[in-house]
Amino acid sequence: MNNLQACIFDMDGVLVSTEKYHFLAWKELAESLGFTIDEVFNEQLKGVSRAVCIDLILQHGGIDVSADEKQHLSDKKNTKYLKYISTISRNDVLPGVVSLLEELRKHGIKTAVGSASKNAPFLLEKLELTTFFDVLVDGTQISQPKPHPEVFLKGAEKMAVQPQNCIVFEDAQSGVQAAKSAGMYCVGIGNPAILSEADMCVNGVYEISYLDLAIL
Ligand code: BG6
Ligand code: MG
Repeated sequence: MNNLQACIFDMDGVLVSTEKYHFLAWKELAESLGFTIDEVFNEQLKGVSRAVCIDLILQHGGIDVSADEKQHLSDKKNTKYLKYISTISRNDVLPGVVSLLEELRKHGIKTAVGSASKNAPFLLEKLELTTFFDVLVDGTQISQPKPHPEVFLKGAEKMAVQPQNCIVFEDAQSGVQAAKSAGMYCVGIGNPAILSEADMCVNGVYEISYLDLAIL
Protein backbone atom coordinates (compact mmCIF):
# COMPACT_ATOMS: atom_id res chain seq x y z
CA MET A 1 0.00 0.00 0.00
CA ASN A 2 1.27 3.52 -0.63
CA ASN A 3 -0.96 5.92 1.25
CA LEU A 4 -2.12 4.87 4.68
CA GLN A 5 -5.18 6.89 5.72
CA ALA A 6 -7.12 4.65 8.09
CA CYS A 7 -6.93 1.58 10.33
CA ILE A 8 -9.89 -0.69 11.03
CA PHE A 9 -9.74 -2.93 14.08
CA ASP A 10 -11.74 -6.05 14.68
CA MET A 11 -12.72 -6.06 18.38
CA ASP A 12 -12.98 -9.60 19.84
CA GLY A 13 -9.48 -11.09 19.93
CA VAL A 14 -7.75 -7.91 18.69
CA LEU A 15 -8.64 -5.17 21.19
CA VAL A 16 -9.68 -7.52 24.01
CA SER A 17 -9.47 -11.29 24.67
CA THR A 18 -13.20 -11.95 24.58
CA GLU A 19 -12.92 -14.86 22.12
CA LYS A 20 -12.35 -17.24 25.03
CA TYR A 21 -15.66 -16.14 26.61
CA HIS A 22 -17.58 -16.53 23.36
CA PHE A 23 -16.09 -20.04 23.15
CA LEU A 24 -16.94 -20.97 26.75
CA ALA A 25 -20.52 -19.71 26.40
CA TRP A 26 -21.08 -21.67 23.14
CA LYS A 27 -19.43 -24.77 24.64
CA GLU A 28 -21.76 -24.66 27.68
CA LEU A 29 -24.73 -24.28 25.37
CA ALA A 30 -23.60 -27.24 23.23
CA GLU A 31 -23.07 -29.36 26.36
CA SER A 32 -26.57 -28.53 27.60
CA LEU A 33 -27.75 -29.99 24.28
CA GLY A 34 -25.72 -33.19 24.73
CA PHE A 35 -22.58 -32.62 22.62
CA THR A 36 -19.43 -30.52 22.82
CA ILE A 37 -17.23 -28.27 20.69
CA ASP A 38 -13.44 -27.91 20.79
CA GLU A 39 -10.97 -25.13 20.01
CA VAL A 40 -10.39 -26.40 16.47
CA PHE A 41 -14.12 -26.19 15.70
CA ASN A 42 -14.18 -22.78 17.41
CA GLU A 43 -11.94 -21.28 14.69
CA GLN A 44 -15.02 -21.33 12.41
CA LEU A 45 -17.04 -19.35 14.97
CA LYS A 46 -14.53 -16.51 15.21
CA GLY A 47 -15.55 -13.36 13.39
CA VAL A 48 -18.94 -14.60 12.23
CA SER A 49 -22.32 -13.37 13.48
CA ARG A 50 -24.24 -14.90 16.37
CA ALA A 51 -26.87 -16.18 13.92
CA VAL A 52 -24.24 -18.00 11.82
CA CYS A 53 -22.59 -19.40 14.98
CA ILE A 54 -25.81 -21.01 16.22
CA ASP A 55 -26.40 -22.59 12.79
CA LEU A 56 -22.85 -24.00 12.69
CA ILE A 57 -23.14 -25.35 16.25
CA LEU A 58 -26.51 -27.04 15.75
CA GLN A 59 -25.26 -28.54 12.49
CA HIS A 60 -22.16 -29.82 14.31
CA GLY A 61 -24.37 -31.47 16.96
CA GLY A 62 -26.73 -32.85 14.31
CA ILE A 63 -29.64 -30.98 15.89
CA ASP A 64 -32.57 -29.44 14.05
CA VAL A 65 -34.77 -26.92 15.88
CA SER A 66 -37.48 -24.38 15.04
CA ALA A 67 -36.59 -20.75 14.33
CA ASP A 68 -38.06 -19.75 17.71
CA GLU A 69 -35.98 -22.34 19.56
CA LYS A 70 -32.88 -21.21 17.66
CA GLN A 71 -33.52 -17.64 18.80
CA HIS A 72 -34.02 -18.84 22.36
CA LEU A 73 -30.73 -20.78 22.29
CA SER A 74 -28.72 -17.88 20.90
CA ASP A 75 -30.27 -15.54 23.53
CA LYS A 76 -29.24 -18.10 26.17
CA LYS A 77 -25.67 -18.08 24.86
CA ASN A 78 -25.62 -14.28 24.94
CA THR A 79 -26.80 -14.24 28.57
CA LYS A 80 -23.95 -16.60 29.50
CA TYR A 81 -21.47 -14.48 27.50
CA LEU A 82 -22.64 -11.24 29.15
CA LYS A 83 -22.09 -12.85 32.54
CA TYR A 84 -18.48 -13.68 31.58
CA ILE A 85 -17.76 -10.13 30.44
CA SER A 86 -19.58 -8.40 33.31
CA THR A 87 -16.35 -7.58 35.13
CA ILE A 88 -14.31 -6.54 32.08
CA SER A 89 -12.70 -3.12 32.43
CA ARG A 90 -9.97 -0.90 30.97
CA ASN A 91 -7.34 -3.29 32.42
CA ASP A 92 -8.49 -5.93 29.94
CA VAL A 93 -7.60 -3.91 26.85
CA LEU A 94 -4.85 -5.93 25.14
CA PRO A 95 -1.22 -4.70 25.33
CA GLY A 96 -0.21 -2.03 22.82
CA VAL A 97 -3.76 -1.13 21.76
CA VAL A 98 -4.06 2.24 23.50
CA SER A 99 -0.57 3.39 22.52
CA LEU A 100 -1.09 2.46 18.85
CA LEU A 101 -4.46 4.24 18.78
CA GLU A 102 -2.87 7.35 20.31
CA GLU A 103 -0.01 7.26 17.80
CA LEU A 104 -2.42 6.86 14.86
CA ARG A 105 -4.48 9.83 15.98
CA LYS A 106 -1.34 11.93 16.44
CA HIS A 107 -0.41 11.21 12.81
CA GLY A 108 -3.87 12.01 11.45
CA ILE A 109 -4.76 8.39 10.64
CA LYS A 110 -8.47 7.68 11.05
CA THR A 111 -9.57 4.72 13.14
CA ALA A 112 -12.58 2.44 13.14
CA VAL A 113 -13.87 -0.69 14.81
CA GLY A 114 -15.27 -3.29 12.40
CA SER A 115 -16.91 -6.01 14.48
CA ALA A 116 -19.56 -8.66 13.94
CA SER A 117 -20.60 -8.30 17.57
CA LYS A 118 -23.88 -6.70 18.58
CA ASN A 119 -22.29 -6.20 22.01
CA ALA A 120 -19.52 -3.99 20.58
CA PRO A 121 -20.81 -0.56 21.74
CA PHE A 122 -21.40 -1.89 25.27
CA LEU A 123 -18.00 -3.60 25.45
CA LEU A 124 -16.09 -0.59 24.06
CA GLU A 125 -17.71 1.57 26.76
CA LYS A 126 -16.66 -0.89 29.47
CA LEU A 127 -13.12 -0.89 28.08
CA GLU A 128 -13.17 2.94 27.95
CA LEU A 129 -12.15 2.76 24.28
CA THR A 130 -15.15 4.39 22.57
CA THR A 131 -13.58 7.82 22.20
CA PHE A 132 -10.40 6.43 20.61
CA PHE A 133 -12.30 5.60 17.42
CA ASP A 134 -13.71 7.88 14.74
CA VAL A 135 -16.16 5.26 13.51
CA LEU A 136 -17.84 2.10 14.83
CA VAL A 137 -19.45 -0.53 12.61
CA ASP A 138 -20.96 -3.37 14.63
CA GLY A 139 -23.17 -6.40 14.13
CA THR A 140 -26.35 -4.33 14.25
CA GLN A 141 -25.31 -2.29 11.21
CA ILE A 142 -24.50 -5.01 8.71
CA SER A 143 -26.62 -7.49 6.80
CA GLN A 144 -23.83 -9.75 5.54
CA PRO A 145 -21.48 -11.37 8.07
CA LYS A 146 -17.71 -11.77 7.56
CA PRO A 147 -16.19 -13.18 5.29
CA HIS A 148 -18.36 -10.73 3.34
CA PRO A 149 -16.48 -7.39 3.18
CA GLU A 150 -19.53 -5.26 4.13
CA VAL A 151 -18.36 -4.42 7.67
CA PHE A 152 -14.99 -3.06 6.47
CA LEU A 153 -16.36 -1.33 3.36
CA LYS A 154 -18.93 0.42 5.53
CA GLY A 155 -16.16 1.49 7.92
CA ALA A 156 -14.12 2.95 5.04
CA GLU A 157 -17.18 4.72 3.65
CA LYS A 158 -18.02 6.26 7.04
CA MET A 159 -14.42 7.50 7.34
CA ALA A 160 -14.54 8.76 3.71
CA VAL A 161 -11.40 6.84 2.71
CA GLN A 162 -10.73 4.39 -0.12
CA PRO A 163 -10.36 0.68 0.77
CA GLN A 164 -6.84 0.54 -0.67
CA ASN A 165 -5.78 3.16 1.89
CA CYS A 166 -6.98 1.10 4.87
CA ILE A 167 -5.25 -1.45 7.06
CA VAL A 168 -7.39 -4.03 8.88
CA PHE A 169 -6.33 -5.83 12.07
CA GLU A 170 -7.98 -9.26 12.36
CA ASP A 171 -7.66 -12.44 14.42
CA ALA A 172 -10.25 -14.55 12.55
CA GLN A 173 -9.97 -16.42 9.26
CA SER A 174 -13.38 -15.06 8.19
CA GLY A 175 -12.23 -11.53 9.06
CA VAL A 176 -8.99 -11.80 7.09
CA GLN A 177 -11.02 -12.99 4.10
CA ALA A 178 -13.42 -10.06 4.56
CA ALA A 179 -10.53 -7.56 4.64
CA LYS A 180 -8.92 -9.04 1.52
CA SER A 181 -12.27 -9.09 -0.35
CA ALA A 182 -12.65 -5.42 0.61
CA GLY A 183 -9.32 -4.70 -1.12
CA MET A 184 -7.57 -3.74 2.13
CA TYR A 185 -4.17 -4.60 3.58
CA CYS A 186 -4.60 -7.09 6.42
CA VAL A 187 -2.50 -7.58 9.54
CA GLY A 188 -3.37 -10.98 11.02
CA ILE A 189 -3.24 -11.28 14.82
CA GLY A 190 -2.38 -14.87 15.74
CA ASN A 191 -1.20 -18.05 14.07
CA PRO A 192 0.07 -17.46 10.48
CA ALA A 193 -0.82 -21.05 9.57
CA ILE A 194 -4.49 -20.27 10.34
CA LEU A 195 -4.43 -16.68 9.02
CA SER A 196 -2.55 -17.61 5.85
CA GLU A 197 -4.40 -15.07 3.67
CA ALA A 198 -3.24 -12.11 5.78
CA ASP A 199 -0.51 -9.86 4.29
CA MET A 200 1.49 -10.20 7.49
CA CYS A 201 0.99 -11.77 10.92
CA VAL A 202 1.96 -10.71 14.44
CA ASN A 203 1.23 -12.10 17.89
CA GLY A 204 -0.55 -8.98 19.08
CA VAL A 205 -1.10 -5.28 18.41
CA TYR A 206 1.83 -4.58 20.78
CA GLU A 207 4.21 -5.73 18.02
CA ILE A 208 3.09 -2.92 15.70
CA SER A 209 3.89 0.81 15.75
CA TYR A 210 2.75 3.63 13.47
CA LEU A 211 6.16 3.57 11.74
CA ASP A 212 5.80 -0.13 10.86
CA LEU A 213 2.50 0.70 9.16
CA ALA A 214 3.68 3.86 7.45
CA ILE A 215 6.36 1.98 5.47
CA LEU A 216 4.10 -0.82 4.19
C1 BG6 B 1 -17.34 -11.66 16.69
C2 BG6 B 1 -16.75 -12.84 17.42
O1 BG6 B 1 -16.56 -10.53 16.91
O2 BG6 B 1 -18.68 -11.41 17.12
C3 BG6 B 1 -17.66 -14.04 17.35
O3 BG6 B 1 -15.50 -13.14 16.84
C4 BG6 B 1 -19.05 -13.67 17.85
O4 BG6 B 1 -17.09 -15.07 18.14
C5 BG6 B 1 -19.58 -12.51 17.00
O5 BG6 B 1 -19.92 -14.77 17.75
C6 BG6 B 1 -20.96 -12.06 17.40
O6 BG6 B 1 -20.92 -11.49 18.67
P1 BG6 B 1 -22.17 -11.13 19.58
O7 BG6 B 1 -21.55 -10.40 20.74
O8 BG6 B 1 -23.07 -10.26 18.76
O9 BG6 B 1 -22.82 -12.40 19.94
MG1 MG C 1 -12.03 -11.28 16.25
